[in-house]
Amino acid sequence: MDCNAFLTLEELKAHCEKCRECSLGESRTNLVFGTGNPKAKLMFIGEAPGEKEDLSGIPFVGAAGKLLDKFLFAVDIQREDVYIANILKCRPPKNRDPKPEEEDKCIDFLRAQVKLIDPDIIVCLGRIAAMRIIKPDYKITAEHGTFIKRGKYLITAVYHPSALLRDPRKKEDMLIDMQKIKAEYDKIK
Ligand code: URA
Repeated sequence: MDCNAFLTLEELKAHCEKCRECSLGESRTNLVFGTGNPKAKLMFIGEAPGEKEDLSGIPFVGAAGKLLDKFLFAVDIQREDVYIANILKCRPPKNRDPKPEEEDKCIDFLRAQVKLIDPDIIVCLGRIAAMRIIKPDYKITAEHGTFIKRGKYLITAVYHPSALLRDPRKKEDMLIDMQKIKAEYDKIK
């Protein structure tokens, strides 16, 4: 797919709605395209929609999303100012990890989305997004919170909020990482 083929997020979304390149297009309830400020300077990218997201069509609205909201609030970032999307736009059944071939089919939609939004900072939420966006051997425990510059983008990864729900001891690191993200965001806002 040509990332430049779409002139607006609405056009891209309409195209994603029709996608049946993998079986998730049939099993999902709603496409979870992404939400937020279409001109956001800061973009968060998660893994794939869960049940609540599938039912609502909105990313990060379940338990993990509520925790993400708390961290955004803690560092004074308004959710409506940023953009939130996922690697996969359709929910994998029973919240299993995305399959590499599903990511391969979906990743150009995300590329086109990033191009249209044109953020300065991209934050990968969790290991799966970081492995796809930063590098395949990304080690979230060792590398979370470190920034790389790729072209115009400043990119980092933080723990996935679901990982924080499983292991609350990671919340301290998450707050430090989010404060670093806020400091970078303040520089370009
Ligand atoms: N986890 C994700 O990675 N994305 C969502 O939208 C919800 C939960």
